[in-house]
Amino acid sequence: MGLLDILGLTLATALALYALCLLGRRRRRPGEPPLINGWIPFLGKALDFREDPSKLLLTLQQKYGDMFTVHIAGRYITFIMDPLLYSSVTKNSKYLEFQEFADSLASRTFDYPSVLKGDFPGLNENVHRNYQFLLGKPLDALSDNMMTNLQWIFNTQFSQATDWKVGKLYKFCCSVMFKASFITLYGRDPSADGHNVIGAIEEKFTKFDASFSYLAANIPIELLGATKRIRKELIDVFLPTNTANWLGVSELIEDRKEMFERYEVLRDYDKAAHHFAFMWASVGNTIPATFWAVYYLLRHPEALAVVRDEIDHLLQSTGQERGPGCNIRLTREQLDNLVYLESALNESLRMSSASMNIRIIKEDFIFKLEGNQEVSLRKEDWVAIYPPILHMDPEVYEDPKKYRVDRYVENGKKKTTFYKRGKKLKYFLMPFGSGTSKCPGRFFAVNEMKLFIILLLAYFDVEIMEEKQIGLEKNRMGLGIALPDSDICFRHKLRP
Ligand code: HEM
Repeated sequence: MGLLDILGLTLATALALYALCLLGRRRRRPGEPPLINGWIPFLGKALDFREDPSKLLLTLQQKYGDMFTVHIAGRYITFIMDPLLYSSVTKNSKYLEFQEFADSLASRTFDYPSVLKGDFPGLNENVHRNYQFLLGKPLDALSDNMMTNLQWIFNTQFSQATDWKVGKLYKFCCSVMFKASFITLYGRDPSADGHNVIGAIEEKFTKFDASFSYLAANIPIELLGATKRIRKELIDVFLPTNTANWLGVSELIEDRKEMFERYEVLRDYDKAAHHFAFMWASVGNTIPATFWAVYYLLRHPEALAVVRDEIDHLLQSTGQERGPGCNIRLTREQLDNLVYLESALNESLRMSSASMNIRIIKEDFIFKLEGNQEVSLRKEDWVAIYPPILHMDPEVYEDPKKYRVDRYVENGKKKTTFYKRGKKLKYFLMPFGSGTSKCPGRFFAVNEMKLFIILLLAYFDVEIMEEKQIGLEKNRMGLGIALPDSDICFRHKLRP
């Protein structure tokens, strides 16, 4: 057989396989939303989605309307594009489930046995009950301790900056927020040098975090270089034998430890893996969110001045000194009343949040939506909301690509009224998810970020030193707050 024959045969086989794939691909049934299969077998629209999810979804919306099903890497995902319809998803928990999806993703990524499939009666409920320690009085205690730990870090590591000190902004935010959050939640080993030990954990966390999106996409950990070893080392940090003597452990983590102790079937490694998962949840999004908040403020001097003024005014009016050696204390109410700082945070969350809200369809059912619409949906498909589309909708947010520090302020108070087609939106800002999957750490997260910015601006003059614009890294799209696509030089100096 000549070369041309072989080539011809290969081409014919490939075409036959492709034709088979086309024939075997899914067809839309009556009553179902428009179906977009894509032309690439097995991947469907996965490459376009990975490249730019918002662009793909907006193009499909123009062609197919506010609800359509897209084939993405073996999954059929029905997107709900109209924010006025979002509550139909959160209300339909009878048919749309989240727990099993989250359990399978988290157990695979963080290496603990499935909470729902294993023999751990009541564990899922107990884990969720534990989130009460992120509310009310325990939340106040967490925020207070976070402030103490942040000031300890600022005082011991940065109080010598009488002249300009140059650094990288993401690295700075990551190092301070990781350390302060870690100590606040887990306490510290009294026999070790606090800065170094936690610095080493942070380094490993950063490496693991870089692989997180691949693990979440179900890529086997064995294909991800050193990730498996690093994950094990991070899990080992939390082994009961290693953390038994730690001091200053939060109520929340004490309660989690006691809860896991009640499950004899959980091995020490499994308990440690659960702690590691919570540790990732507590910093994985807060660190990039803090970076974006600071980055946007520094890029907009007029916004920075407004927020700095608000903070200085609060400190003056409560008779508190600012700068190294001082001990700033703020109540929940005082933090809550910083409307410009909160608006600045919300605005940077709006611009950097990329989380997708996913639900799995438990059985075939007729999905009834607001306004008498209904569609048939199939068991095991996904229903998804992609909030970045809402966050960048010019009808909801005028000039959405522009950073406006006061976007969430109205007449000196928090603004919560945003409209679509003249109707008030229940969901207008969704960095923390929605309904049953809403982040239980959101109040603590906002407090942590506020405290960080308060101290940063109370201690230092801060400036960005490079002209370049930082964009959102594509890898994390769909999974929380996007990481920046590069770091940027900044400088800081103690304020006079
Ligand atoms: C800016 C910071 C944060 C953002 C944007 C964020 C966002 C989210 C989102 C979107 C989810 C839902 C995930 C999904 O739908 O698949 C989630 C879940 C979760 N978050 Fe956060 N989060 C932040 C900070 C925190 C903090 C500080 C903590 C704890 C101290 C925390 C603890 C958790 C936990 C435990 C879950 C899983 C809840 C469950 O079991 O269902 N998060 N977060």
